[in-house]
Amino acid sequence: MSNKATLEINGEKHEFPLVVGTENEVGIDIKTFRAATNGVVTLDPGFKNTGSCESGITFLNGEQGILRYRGYAIEELADKADFLEVAFLLIFGELPTKDQLEKFHSDIKGQSIVDDDVKKIIDAFPKTAHPMGVLSSLTSALTAFNPSSVNVDSEEDMYNSVVRILGKFPVLVAWTMRKKQGLPLDYGDNSLGYVENVLQMMFKKPNQDYVQNPIIIDALDKLLILHADHEQNCSTSTVRIVGSSHAGLFASLSAGISALWGPLHGGANQAVIEMLEAIKEDGGDTHKYMAKAKDKTDPFRLMGFGHRVYKNFDPRARIIKKSADDVLADLGIEDPILEIAKGLEAEALSDDYFVKRKLYPNVDFYSGIIYRAMGIPIEMFTVMFALGRLPGWIAQWREMRLNKEPIGRPRQIYTGETLRDFKSINNR
Ligand code: CMC
Repeated sequence: MSNKATLEINGEKHEFPLVVGTENEVGIDIKTFRAATNGVVTLDPGFKNTGSCESGITFLNGEQGILRYRGYAIEELADKADFLEVAFLLIFGELPTKDQLEKFHSDIKGQSIVDDDVKKIIDAFPKTAHPMGVLSSLTSALTAFNPSSVNVDSEEDMYNSVVRILGKFPVLVAWTMRKKQGLPLDYGDNSLGYVENVLQMMFKKPNQDYVQNPIIIDALDKLLILHADHEQNCSTSTVRIVGSSHAGLFASLSAGISALWGPLHGGANQAVIEMLEAIKEDGGDTHKYMAKAKDKTDPFRLMGFGHRVYKNFDPRARIIKKSADDVLADLGIEDPILEIAKGLEAEALSDDYFVKRKLYPNVDFYSGIIYRAMGIPIEMFTVMFALGRLPGWIAQWREMRLNKEPIGRPRQIYTGETLRDFKSINNR
């Protein structure tokens, strides 16, 4: 294969080098495009064809349904690793040794106190506030309580900010839920594992002990691993682009949380359960909703289906579907919406509309069913996604800063009015 791409504009030929990744993905390097073509730009709304960076963190092949973190298959990580190991792997590039993992966890625990004044900020939110809005605000507010900006050239500084946010973020997650439920805003227990501590902080009632359930710990650990990174998705690209202006880590993460909130992205896990509930309330007629999803005059979409990159089964969905079955069976829960979900999936997989467009269940199709079985309120589902995605956002932010990427600033093709004369207000 030639290592150049040639483009002809108005009879003039321009050559651009090809970039080949370690998995043989090919890109056309257009860094010099605008200068070489005298001001021509590429136009790609939604960045469907645009690589925004070179990255060594996550490999995903949507056609073959492959997802790997730092070269390790997601199936193997979900089966054999725990969430903190995966967080270390994503952020620092290698699986930790036993000593590194112990130190990492101990350093995170050392940072697990959030300034008590943050509670005043939470108190100012109405109980009706959506937890994602609260979480995004609190993450941004952490900047005020931890003002030192990261010296990205100092490994120590970088490490300290990583453990600081990994320590404080679960506290904020728990507080957003407890605020809504009118429960006291407590701290965790440093004798517990990372995921056990999250569960205890979320669910412990002031007047009784919280009894840990190994099935729930294991299922949550898996869910967090499966959500931990997904290369240049909407929220991760947001984190990178905000960080590219040299805004701090917490500010960049806060923007990522806002991006994740939308129902086309992380908010889909909440939207899936709302959709399945609505179908149940409406008599459970899945055909009716399949028809709505296919009707181009109806805005309804089958939530939890389709993906920008996966044009094959989302490998995370396979693992989560099995986990949903196991968790519900282990906990002895019969959830009628699981049957509706399976019915929709079976119909969609054999329906021409979905088959032709390569629309398969995505990670969010079954995750909400597990969260619900764990007793997590529906509005908290996307917050749980954020908790899982945190190491990925950090890893991508760190990579972007260490690679000294330039500030993100796309161009546009202007389609508005050309120059016109100002009309005074009485002549309009
Ligand atoms: N239900 C019905 N039709 C769909 C759906 C769906 N869920 N998703 C895509 N389509 C159709 C779409 O109407 C279009 O049809 P046509 O070619 O006739 O115009 C075609 O499939 C391609 O869709 P698109 O919107 O151009 O694809 P996209 O890559 O821009 O969007 C998506 C990807 C995930 C936003 C979209 O599939 C969707 O809205 N899905 C539902 C929301 C959802 O589950 N989001 C979670 C994504 S996974 C979690 C995460 O990482 O964020």
